[in-house]
Amino acid sequence: MQNIMVTGGCGFIGANFIRFLFEETDFSGRIVNVDALTYAGNRDSLSDIEKQYTDRYVFHKVDICDAPALEELFTSYSIDTICHFAAESHVDRSIVRPDAFVQTNVIGTFNLLEIARKHGDKLKLLHHVSTDEVFGSLGKEGFFTETTRYQPNSPYSASKAASDHLVRAYHETYGLPITMSNCSNNYGPYQFPEKLIPLMILNARDRKPLPVYGDGSNVRDWLYVSDHCDAIWTIMTEGKRGETYNVGGDNEMANLEVVNTICRLIDEILPDKNQDPRSELITFVKDRPGHDWRYAIDFSKIRTELGWQPKESFSSGIEKTIRWYFEHSEWVDRVLSGEYQDWIEEHYG
Ligand code: NAD
Ligand code: TYD
Repeated sequence: MQNIMVTGGCGFIGANFIRFLFEETDFSGRIVNVDALTYAGNRDSLSDIEKQYTDRYVFHKVDICDAPALEELFTSYSIDTICHFAAESHVDRSIVRPDAFVQTNVIGTFNLLEIARKHGDKLKLLHHVSTDEVFGSLGKEGFFTETTRYQPNSPYSASKAASDHLVRAYHETYGLPITMSNCSNNYGPYQFPEKLIPLMILNARDRKPLPVYGDGSNVRDWLYVSDHCDAIWTIMTEGKRGETYNVGGDNEMANLEVVNTICRLIDEILPDKNQDPRSELITFVKDRPGHDWRYAIDFSKIRTELGWQPKESFSSGIEKTIRWYFEHSEWVDRVLSGEYQDWIEEHYG
């Protein structure tokens, strides 16, 4: 793997992954970051990397639905590997605007697969990054395994499920060298503050209401983003072609517990005796339609076959994340300055 095309490299996980490859691995090739810079993509999440690795890192603002533009990049950079992150990724948005999800997640992935197929002789690997949400919702018991039946419930998870099926089919039908991963909820630096953890950190800091959907009993498994990046790279370098791997954080928690933990830590970091504890800001709001109750991952396959397991505990990871957001208010202000605010106004008033 010498010339890796990373799609969606200006988003949360993609940016962390590019940083991880340069800083934490012995990868010595070039990364071509292809990102359309939607509201969730921020080129300056990698501005230091862009300056430091001028000969090994290049950015192109390209939509993965634009097949000719992708094709041009493929040829001019002799791409031999693809790591595919680009997606519309927020469930709440998919409920109000599913069209963008079908377009990017399904059609965009299809475009990429077609180009990969055309260049099949040069292609070493296409790694597709997916989610455990494709498996639907669990009750109190059980875990998702790689063979759990797909049963997506939101337009987001349905569009990711469709893309997973296409990737798998291109392996079975055309012999495309692929690997896939389905992981649990990520958290850490550079996550756009519409997802639960960064939204609660910033609202709690600013003493704004903390909107918890339903009764807050929904359970998610939390995976620190650098553990996820490590898992992806492990799969890309050591995973069996044609296989899919589940990646989990071993940190199942109810939403209310997550929000309370954030409140308690911020009260410690920014103490103020004259104010109520931040948990008083928790506001139970109308539940998300089709809200999956519990996600939990059995990641024994990647652990036993590839020797990967998560390193970060939730208590250390969440504290690092809170401190990162506090120290990067400029980044936060920049990412919140644009289209997101307009969108919130339009859809939530
Ligand atoms: P994100 O929303 O933070 O970033 C997505 C990136 O894709 C952005 O930089 C955006 O500009 C880019 N993008 C969107 N549409 C594009 C298009 N048409 N062409 C090119 N670029 C486009 O998402 P994320 O949280 O970093 O997620 C990355 C991947 O990981 C996604 O495929 C997502 O489904 C998957 N995933 C995420 C999580 C999570 O907890 N965040 C969990 C499991 C799986
Ligand atoms: P989210 O971060 O949107 O990830 P996902 O829906 O992909 O799991 O939400 C995580 C959980 O937190 C989910 O159960 C919905 C809930 N949630 C809230 O209660 N309030 C919020 O403001 C948000 C954004 C999410």
